[in-house]
Amino acid sequence: MMSVATHLRIRVAEYDRVIRTFIPNYQEMLSVAAAALRPRSASPLIVDLGTGTGALAAHCLRAVPNSRLIGLDTDPEMLAVAARRLRARQRYGIELKQQSFTRCALPRADYFTAGISLHHVRTRITKIKLYRRCLHALCAGGALVSIDCMPPSQLDLYAQAKRAWIRHLERTYSTRNARAHLAAWAKEDRYFPLDQELDMLHTAGFRVEIVWRRGPFAVVRAEKPRTSRAMPAALL
Ligand SMILES: C[S@@+](CC[C@H](N)C(=O)[O-])C[C@H]1O[C@@H](n2cnc3c(N)ncnc32)[C@H](O)[C@@H]1O
Repeated sequence: MMSVATHLRIRVAEYDRVIRTFIPNYQEMLSVAAAALRPRSASPLIVDLGTGTGALAAHCLRAVPNSRLIGLDTDPEMLAVAARRLRARQRYGIELKQQSFTRCALPRADYFTAGISLHHVRTRITKIKLYRRCLHALCAGGALVSIDCMPPSQLDLYAQAKRAWIRHLERTYSTRNARAHLAAWAKEDRYFPLDQELDMLHTAGFRVEIVWRRGPFAVVRAEKPRTSRAMPAALL
């Protein structure tokens, strides 16, 4: 996985400002995702997959009183920013780990969250495997909440959603640069259409709700059913 600075062609110090110029409704999606956690236990553990600079993590910690958080990310520069952002919360139980969520053992958690990070998982098989591992690691009734580009699969709606994304980019960049950004990201990212995402989550054993959707982006909440079937070790 290349660094975020190389992938997005920005300096990490600018990430929190620039990401808003790249991703439409970024701030709103963070708030919606944090609100979708709907805490049930007294001191829940949130594991944030691809925590980056900690923006979604900070929203979740605010939304869920007495929560603890583990943030996983492969990019040390991004984690350094997250550490500064979350410093004030450290004493409540925050751990930031330089680890890949597709490779490391996932801790037992009440919630998994992912803010525009799961598009780095490029194949259906790897994604279902990750979803199964999340399901297995979740407490009963726990949930995975993911924000990502999950475009429509129908061609005309897909084209409309892509135009909406380009219009957002054009607020800051020329049309040529807007298209160049999308083309560059597409070389590394994989945006599965929303219906395929839902299918992968169902296949893994989740019960899924779409809590927000606009243009090519969506926020989905995938809950572990209370009577989830036991996972054969070979599938984990
Ligand atoms: C676009 S950033 C999003 C950061 C943050 N969640 C947000 O909402 O702004 C995606 C992050 O996922 C991280 N990432 C990508 N693949 C990863 C993996 N396999 N394991 C851990 N982190 C990963 C990247 O390093 C990057 O920090």
